[in-house]
Amino acid sequence: MESLSTDISLAPFNSFGIKVKTRWYGKFCDAGELTQIINSSPRVPKLVLGGGSNLLFTKDFEGLVLKNEIMGIQKTSEDENFVYLKVGAGENWHRFVMYCIENNYAGVENLSLIPGCVGASPMQNIGAYGVELKDVFHELTAFHIEEKSNYTFRLKDCQFGYRDSVFKGKYRNQFVILHVTFRLNKKPVFHTGYGAIEQELAKMDVKELSIRAISNAVINIRTSKLPDPLEIGNAGSFYKNPSVSKEKFQQLKTDFPDAVGYDNADGSVKLAAGWLIEHSGPDNETSWKGYRLGDAGVHPLQALVLVNYGNATGQEVYDLSERILQSVHNKFGVTLEREVNII
Ligand code: FAD
Ligand code: EPU
Repeated sequence: MESLSTDISLAPFNSFGIKVKTRWYGKFCDAGELTQIINSSPRVPKLVLGGGSNLLFTKDFEGLVLKNEIMGIQKTSEDENFVYLKVGAGENWHRFVMYCIENNYAGVENLSLIPGCVGASPMQNIGAYGVELKDVFHELTAFHIEEKSNYTFRLKDCQFGYRDSVFKGKYRNQFVILHVTFRLNKKPVFHTGYGAIEQELAKMDVKELSIRAISNAVINIRTSKLPDPLEIGNAGSFYKNPSVSKEKFQQLKTDFPDAVGYDNADGSVKLAAGWLIEHSGPDNETSWKGYRLGDAGVHPLQALVLVNYGNATGQEVYDLSERILQSVHNKFGVTLEREVNII
């Protein structure tokens, strides 16, 4: 029987390294243990925790943290073109990517080195280097906390969008994702069009393209600019890249010819939030990039990443994020939206 713990430090369980506690804590390895924990806990707010790499705790959590440790990778079916893998929500995401590469299952190589667990991957439809989770998603099973029953969600049920899903929106805090089933390609379809991948592959002198080569290129690019949470606390991009109308982008380009934007399929333009943050600052002369106040700061190599140099509180990081949001709005008339979940 799984038991509940009380007053547990969450510092080891969040990649920002924020030193907060949770009133109640229970870990589970399957749906049965999860039900036991919920049945034996008081009626308090619940927070499902994976790797804690997309969260900012601004205070102690006065509820129950449910730590997902459901493991296992199981092949459920295959045909000539695809293999279907059902993966426990507690599996480490990057280890799962490496498993796919070892077995020559293609589709997740561009998503190498994203921290966190498989169970959180549908939450914000994780994405990087031209691929999103939705491109390899088949279905998931999730446990409804109030009803205590399991549901299956297919692709269309999840309403995946850019860094968004039904679980981040209308079903927030209602479901615990237990397993995710992926559809992976036996015959690889390479995605090398995004950003610096081609350049990196050339630098690596890759003669024959493979999913492993792409994974290595992505790992090289990521480690060159994203801080390792084991060294500097962070949760990756703190804000989403905002979309604006074509007219608004043209007006920005007139005022700021270097502004960076990419065309969306619907005619709008996605701005690089990192550029907006780098080109605004605490006053008119300076940039936020590399800014530090106490132990809260903006990473010197990637302005979209807020960091904790050691002893920042979550509130200090949040306050800095609010100042950045205001200054970007004042300078460019664009409102940033936080990607990180604020708790
Ligand atoms: P957590 O932080 O534990 O949880 C995140 C949210 O999901 C919370 O709301 C939590 O309650 C909920 N949740 C977690 N597990 C479950 C579950 N089983 N059921 C229901 N709800 C659940 N993200 C990208 O998309 N692309 C990137 O390129 C990227 N790069 C990053 C780089 C760095 C250095 C870091 C630190 C983060 C990066 N991220 C990126 C963000 C993060 O890695 C992803 O959002 C990841 O999916 C979070 O997984 P986690 O297990 O740590 O989630
Ligand atoms: N830029 C700057 N200054 C900066 C940072 C970026 O000018 O300090 C500009 C550059 O012009 C650069 C452009 O922004 O070319 C894009 O930068 P980058 O390629 O680093 O990507 P990003 O838009 O900052 C997004 C995702 C990342 C993902 C990468 C690669 C969001 C919010 N972030 O970052 O995801 O890994 O692309 O696909 O969409 C995350 O979600 O946590 C995350 C790290």
